[in-house]
Amino acid sequence: MTRARILSGREVAEAVYGELRKRLQALPFVPSLRVIRLGENPASVSYVRLKERRARELGLRSQVEAYPEDYPEEALLERIGVLNRDEGVDGILVQLPLPPHIRVERVLEAISPQKDVDGFHPVNVGRLWSGGEGLFPCTPLGVVRLLRHYGVDLRGKEVVVLGRSNIVGKPLAALLLREDATPTLAHSKTASLPEVVRRAEVLVVAVGRPHLVRKEWVRPGAVVVDVGVNRVGERLLGDVHPEVAEVASALTPVPGGVGPMTVAMLMANTVKAALLRRHGPPR
Ligand code: GUN
Repeated sequence: MTRARILSGREVAEAVYGELRKRLQALPFVPSLRVIRLGENPASVSYVRLKERRARELGLRSQVEAYPEDYPEEALLERIGVLNRDEGVDGILVQLPLPPHIRVERVLEAISPQKDVDGFHPVNVGRLWSGGEGLFPCTPLGVVRLLRHYGVDLRGKEVVVLGRSNIVGKPLAALLLREDATPTLAHSKTASLPEVVRRAEVLVVAVGRPHLVRKEWVRPGAVVVDVGVNRVGERLLGDVHPEVAEVASALTPVPGGVGPMTVAMLMANTVKAALLRRHGPPR
């Protein structure tokens, strides 16, 4: 039996960092990233630390602002306003999830679209869907970049995205359209879900349910991208069961697949935001 090729996000992320280092050396300024975190959600603490470390390794200016769990919404909005006006700040990211007393939409809409390195502001969402230039979400960008690196041609392909979140599924569908793929957005209420998933030439799973996708769901020879990061005890498990490696032609590992790509694309977005703010979109 042949086993799926492993699509290493760590390897591709290194290639992205190599390109970014070259671009940064040619810039007369150092792009800067500000990350805001509320509370002590262990996953958020760990993700933010990772982003901070990578930004510094790359030579970006990077600062984390950590506030208590009960930080008021108005204070957060005010802080974002200050950072929006700060000429020395290129990218602003508010780590999600936020505590329940904070209205996420208000926060995401408060961030200047020019500094919105997460690509979650409605202006950037609109630009993504209408085909314009803007800042787009990091995980979907990472998925497309990873596939491109390994020579997976998306043009005309039936790509099934399992999961319809604002962070991954929906923006990924828009990016896939921009790549001339034919995306299907499937989710927990999709009728005959295993059959729909089995149609995929390229399958992307982002639902947050450990080992949900079994080998019977996967079309033989499909390329499978596992966005899931599920902490189960001490282990990190993907949304795709490891047995899928027996039928897929290629598969991303967890960890070491999409995760490193998300961080790499955040760094790329920070550089892009810095350039867009100074020079506007390319003509
Ligand atoms: N939490 C999980 N993924 C993300 C992300 O891409 N951006 C932010 N800000 N928070 C997240």
